[in-house]
Order: sequence, then C-alpha cells, then structure tokens
Amino acid sequence: MSEATNITWHDSEVTKQQRQQGNNHKSAVVWFTGLSGSGKSTVSVALEKALYDQQVHTYRLDGDNIRHGLNNNLGFSPEDRKENIRRIGEVGKLMVDAGLLTMTAFISPYEEDRAQVRETLDDGEFIEVYTKCSLEACESRDPKGLYQKARAGEIQGFTGINAPYEAPSNPEIVIDTEQLSVEEAVQEIINYLKEHKYL
Ligand code: ADX
Repeated sequence: MSEATNITWHDSEVTKQQRQQGNNHKSAVVWFTGLSGSGKSTVSVALEKALYDQQVHTYRLDGDNIRHGLNNNLGFSPEDRKENIRRIGEVGKLMVDAGLLTMTAFISPYEEDRAQVRETLDDGEFIEVYTKCSLEACESRDPKGLYQKARAGEIQGFTGINAPYEAPSNPEIVIDTEQLSVEEAVQEIINYLKEHKYL
C-alpha cells in the first residue's frame, strides 16, 4: 500500500509489448532462490553472459550487490528480508517493463515474499529457479566463510543455520547444483526459455 496520497499514474507512449517486439524476445524475471552458497550468483552470472552473447537484453540484480546500495539500510531480520525482496520485486517489474530479461539472485527465504513478487508481475513474467543444494554441500563450499562464522556464533540469524529457508513448492525450474555443472544448469534454463517462447 502506498503511503502517499494525491498521486496519479501516468502511462508512457512506448509500451512493454513494443519494447519486447523491438528486442525480439520477451521480458521476465528469472528469480533465483536458494541457500547461500547454493549457486544462485554463479549460475545467474553465467546465464546472463550466455544470453547477452545471443543478443538478449538482460540485467542482473544480486543480493550482495544490491545490499551495498539500494538496500543498504536493510539487515537480515524477517521484516528487512521481506522489504529487501519487495523492493527487488518492484525493481524487477520496472526492468520487465523496460523489456529486459532480468535475473535476480537473492536467498529470498520466505515463500510468502516470493509469492508476493509473483503476484506483482503479470502471468508468465516470474520464472522461479530453485538452486537446490543440501545445507551440508553449501556449508562445505562456504565460498565467503560465512557458515563457519555462523557456526562460531559470529553471525546471528544466518539462513540454514539459525534462520529458516523455505524451499519453493512449485518452482518453474529446479537446478540441482550438486549434480549439474554451471554450463549444464545454464543450458537447462535456456531450454526452458526457448520452450516457453521467451526467446
Ligand atoms: S535475503 O534473505 O534478504 O534474500 P540476500 O540474498 O539479499 O538475502 O543476501 C544474502 C547474502 O548476504 C548472503 O549471500 C551472504 O553473503 C550475506 N549475509 C550476511 N548475513 C547474512 C545472514 N544472516 N543470512 C543470510 N545471508 C547473510
């Protein structure tokens, strides 16, 4: 709900559909969700590169990066994570409106918050990609050393250790990052995008 009153929506004369036609592909949000260390950033970076090389207009939003700027006033309480995801959903919607195939890489641990982003977008514009990886495997990868810190009690409320992660019940795509290489994961997502006529 908006807190402002006396505001009026103003339409552009260039529509989302025109932008998509000009780009020769649809726009949507490819929403990665999964534990820290499950491969969201790695796969989304490789996916973006592969799409860009095929002349697809892309942009990528990543948790660690966005928390340096737009969301630098948010921490990791459930309320702040909710606000983090809400803002990313809104930014994602703007990017879809701008005709971009947008990738987002946020833990986004709460099913309800992800469902709200799905609601915000039009049908077919939210493609949920679950980077499935056991906590044990994420913890043994520990690329940022954060699991070790969390186990040592140096980080409170770390997802998977002492804060929840709710796996998606019905994601469009599941990528098992303990089984697939990065290239295979990218190929699976591109296959999905082609099969469903995004590309
Ligand atoms: S989300 O839960 O709000 O979606 P987001 O994806 O933006 O999280 O940020 C997660 C990143 O922040 C992790 O990859 C990790 O580098 C860092 N981080 C720092 N503290 C925490 C924490 N308590 N829980 C999870 N990730 C954390």
